[in-house]
Amino acid sequence: MKIDVLTLFPKMFEGPMGESMIGKAQENGHLEINISNFRDYSANKHHTVDDYPYGGGAGMLLKVQPIYDNLQSIKKSSPDTKKRVVLLDPAGTPFNQKMAEDFAQEEHLVFICGHYEGYDERIRSLVTDEVSIGDYVLTGGELGAMVMIDATVRLLPEVLGNELSAKTDSHSTGLLEHPQYTRPAVFNEMEVPEVLKNGNHKLIERWQLKEALRRTWIRRPDMLESIELTDEMNTLLKEIKHER
Ligand code: ADE
Repeated sequence: MKIDVLTLFPKMFEGPMGESMIGKAQENGHLEINISNFRDYSANKHHTVDDYPYGGGAGMLLKVQPIYDNLQSIKKSSPDTKKRVVLLDPAGTPFNQKMAEDFAQEEHLVFICGHYEGYDERIRSLVTDEVSIGDYVLTGGELGAMVMIDATVRLLPEVLGNELSAKTDSHSTGLLEHPQYTRPAVFNEMEVPEVLKNGNHKLIERWQLKEALRRTWIRRPDMLESIELTDEMNTLLKEIKHER
């Protein structure tokens, strides 16, 4: 996978994109990340990237030209890849696991990060997606781009060694993940549930599904509205509600 990021603050990416799975994926050649500073593409002799809004109003807007030219240069250097171009914007579509799964299918992702300011509306005509990472306003899109890159890259089959663990992640199944335990069997009088130690896989699976449902019902009941509940799930939910 190829990822390009357009930003005014390239250094923000140095730490997070160089460590852990994302760092390794680049070392192994499964991932290429290029960070470019769109200030370098400003046609203005002072390299300005923003200007006052037509019609007045508070604050400055990012100009379309530097971003347009930066994108053109990416198109020229990889003419053969199909690109998904993502504009970071608190007013965009909320990012979620499904979107990360879609992004992970792409060959080439491009993220455009604004900073402090709004966008000239014409920048939106250059992108395929406008995405927010949540209902709060950051100083810029950089942290949001890194969040999306992290959530996407870990889904690449070559990157997450144990494929199974991405399939059972919270959110990928539509439920929050069930509780898990490792040794010791007892710690400060807190015990591992008996069912997990008895080796009966049918019972273990039932317990795991029930506890995933319980956790989701308590913490994120909204998520239960968006999945098809099987007969088994409905039975387990009834039991859970009785137990409360
Ligand atoms: N830029 C500023 N805030 C943002 C957010 N919540 N999501 C994406 N980009 C942003």
